[in-house]
Amino acid sequence: MSLTIESRPIVDVAAGVRVRFARTPEEFAAVVELRRRVFRDEQSLVETEVTDSEDRHSYQALAVIPDGAIGTGRLTPPTVARPEAHIAWGATLPTFRGRGVGTEIMRALLASADAARMPVVTLSAQTHALAFYRRLGFIPYGERFLVRGIEHQRMARRRPL
Ligand SMILES: CC(C)(COP(=O)(O)OP(=O)(O)OC[C@H]1O[C@@H](n2cnc3c(N)ncnc32)[C@H](O)[C@@H]1OP(=O)(O)O)[C@@H](O)C(=O)NCCC(=O)NCCS
Repeated sequence: MSLTIESRPIVDVAAGVRVRFARTPEEFAAVVELRRRVFRDEQSLVETEVTDSEDRHSYQALAVIPDGAIGTGRLTPPTVARPEAHIAWGATLPTFRGRGVGTEIMRALLASADAARMPVVTLSAQTHALAFYRRLGFIPYGERFLVRGIEHQRMARRRPL
């Protein structure tokens, strides 16, 4: 199945959205295109490169409606270099925001982390999204910092007992 990137708003996204993990080259291409649209074109957070070395050993969530892919997020399991699991590249296309898609993506990633008994998950939140991550159980720690002019805050969530 080839995935297009859907940009038309629809009324009831949350009811029709499915979150799954990318398994094919076409699905990973959709993940990359979503990152380009949000982190390069919209936010200028990255200049060109929207993939990195952690993609190879990470789980890529993809939120899909019948017409195409509208959101994504990545869970990287703990490594020697970074002992905590890490979530990054979370994005929903602008016209689909505020409808629960990002929350569904995060729930899928966290459910996987919990099922694999990863004790702590960290992320670097853009500070406009702090409340979004707090609602999912993340707690801020450390100093805020800037990435290409966008303020970030490190956050962590412990696996529920
Ligand atoms: C942050 C983001 C992934 C949330 O996705 P989403 O699909 O809108 O998430 P939900 O609908 O489940 O939750 C929306 C909540 O996120 C918050 N939010 C943060 N930025 C928002 C935005 N630009 N538009 C809408 N909601 C936003 C709101 O507080 C909202 O809370 P509410 O439900 O009380 O209104 C999405 O806004 C996005 O892609 N932003 C640009 C990229 C980005 O900043 N990614 C996060 C990197 S740390």
